Amino acid sequence: MTEERRDPGVVYVNGRFEPGDTASISVFDHGFLYGDGVFDTSFARHGWIFRLDEHLERLERSLRAVALELPMTLAELRAATIETAARNGHRDAYIKIVVSRGVSAEPLMDPRGCTPTVVIFARPYLSLAGAGVKARGLVTKLTSLRRVSHTAIDPRIKSLNYLNLVMSRVEAFASGCDEALIVDEEGDVCEAPGYNVFAIVGGTVVTPEKAILEGITRQTVLDLCAELGIPSRIGRIAPYDLFTADEAFLTSTAGGLIPIAKVDGRPVGTGAPGPVLARIDAAYEEHLARGWHGTPIPGLRS
Ligand SMILES: Cc1ncc(COP(=O)(O)O)c(C=O)c1O
Repeated sequence: MTEERRDPGVVYVNGRFEPGDTASISVFDHGFLYGDGVFDTSFARHGWIFRLDEHLERLERSLRAVALELPMTLAELRAATIETAARNGHRDAYIKIVVSRGVSAEPLMDPRGCTPTVVIFARPYLSLAGAGVKARGLVTKLTSLRRVSHTAIDPRIKSLNYLNLVMSRVEAFASGCDEALIVDEEGDVCEAPGYNVFAIVGGTVVTPEKAILEGITRQTVLDLCAELGIPSRIGRIAPYDLFTADEAFLTSTAGGLIPIAKVDGRPVGTGAPGPVLARIDAAYEEHLARGWHGTPIPGLRS
């Protein structure tokens, strides 16, 4: 653990900035009691917050989809997010906004009359994948759990109900793998917990259309493919496609572009990170280094 990690930092809670080790919300908060809320995770690199407005727009859609009214304007939330990032002072940061339905008169599952809770924090940049994994690729397992159906909770909502995803990780870790891959109701590979998934099939970069969170990094990869002249499309990825793919990888704000080395014990392609991903990832890093789609954090970026 680095010194920086131990710094509790500053957390925004309902309009106030509090030390990270004492910042608190009510134990009766519906986010805690029922997973009743939404969130969004963005990141800063070299002092710029990447695609901040797209993250805020996605958060706003999540809020509307669960009928949760933000107790401030989106512009105020944007300003609070930038201020949280500035106060924490990390040029490379993991930034999370959580909005829950808050507290109701009694701790019952009553969504009426709640006062929403807004929390924002910024930590030194965090990756879902462990150290060194990017260089060797993830060993993955197609889990027995299906992604929660869109008829139950639409996966486009970045909700606080991540138990389905957490349990898929529990299953993958218990079998000695680095990460889970999840299939949808039709058996197509849709996501990994906290990641979108890509396969490179016959030279074309493919990512699923349905049963997914519409990832900002996923869109970024599609944008970069267009820029680099690499064919890409949105379509099905059956387990067959992963077993026979040239390359496969995951994308997330928390980690970037992470190669998949193995699926269910079988190597993907050569079993080592491949050249197409390397090209896209190099372009991603190069774009981040010059502030592409970046919102400068005051004091960290002139
Ligand atoms: C379920 C799920 N899918 C995909 C992603 C990747 O989305 P993004 O690239 O916007 O981080 C996330 C991010 O946390 C996620 O939670």
